[in-house]
Amino acid sequence: MATVRLPGLVDVHVHLREPGSEQKEDFAHGTRAALAGGITTVLDMPNNPGAPTITPAALAGKARRAAAGACCDIGFHYGATPDNLDTYPAVESQVFGLKLYLDHTTGTLLVERLESMLAIFAAWPAEKPLLVHAEERTVAAVLGLLAVHPRRVHFCHVSLGAEIELIRGAKARGIAVTCEVAPHHLFLSDADLPRLGPYGLMKPPLRTGADVDALWANLDAVDMIATDHAPHTRAEKEGPTPAYGVPGLQTALPLMLTAVAAGRLTLDRLVELMATTPRRVFGLPAPPDTYIEIDPAARWTIADAGQYTKCGWTPFAGMPVQGQVRRVVLRGAEVVRDGQVLATPGSGRVLLPADSGR
Ligand code: NCD
Ligand code: ZN
Ligand code: ZN
Ligand code: ZN
Repeated sequence: MATVRLPGLVDVHVHLREPGSEQKEDFAHGTRAALAGGITTVLDMPNNPGAPTITPAALAGKARRAAAGACCDIGFHYGATPDNLDTYPAVESQVFGLKLYLDHTTGTLLVERLESMLAIFAAWPAEKPLLVHAEERTVAAVLGLLAVHPRRVHFCHVSLGAEIELIRGAKARGIAVTCEVAPHHLFLSDADLPRLGPYGLMKPPLRTGADVDALWANLDAVDMIATDHAPHTRAEKEGPTPAYGVPGLQTALPLMLTAVAAGRLTLDRLVELMATTPRRVFGLPAPPDTYIEIDPAARWTIADAGQYTKCGWTPFAGMPVQGQVRRVVLRGAEVVRDGQVLATPGSGRVLLPADSGR
């Protein structure tokens, strides 16, 4: 078994649910899933059901819990609402981005009025990432705003061929946007919905095979892979109104390595998409003496058993993959050995942006 050494990977879009929905996930479980998947740095989203990260006190409370629970390094995004603009100066130096929800999804952070969008665009520092949940026409609306109010914007979970083509066109015209694609939009499609039932429901939804093909064909316009790790319990999935979202931290790298084995991208490009570019875009320096070791030849099948996420399931169960995480070293400490996570809660670091003194 010849292993290959890669840098510790980064995921800029995860929902670790603590506080507010610890039945779905918590910092300890979610960050163990990250390490098992070769991811040593995560950025956590603010839409916690029951406890959104939209006040300085909520952010401080979340950071305190993460310091006690996290097994990998973790930073945070802050949530935009029409009413919390005056709190931005107090949190700017403590988070990696501001998240703006422009379409319906889990949580209560939907911003619907153009007036509020504009105010948020203007209130958050132009050079700090503003992350948008924007689907379909909303992507075009954001690009329209940018034509008049230039600032940094990062598009979350791009899923449609038309969206990636629009973003490619905007980049070609010099509009400085970045975007991410989630593995479930690259490896699943609406053809999987009958099989997956509620476990295939997420926002944006699984798209057509033609959209999946378009994402792969436009991979050069994609800046990074982000999992949108969004666990819900089986009961929440199987209830009358299934929750939207799927876990993804532990499965992203094996899936992408499978695509490397199939010749769909190079290993160098994978490292750009999952480490180098997200670190650059979000200002996350690589920790010293940190790397992962993978076996690119190992063939195995993803299963619910063996998932570290608290929700205990994955939409990729049953998928054969090639490529396996064997070992992870974080700041000199062996945190994964033979695929088993050894890290203890609290051993991860809570990250602040380097330019926090702005
Ligand atoms: C996410 C969640 O559950 O928090 N759900 C999802 O379907 N993606 C929210 C989001 O990222 O939109
Ligand atoms: Zn979203
Ligand atoms: Zn998300
Ligand atoms: Zn457990």
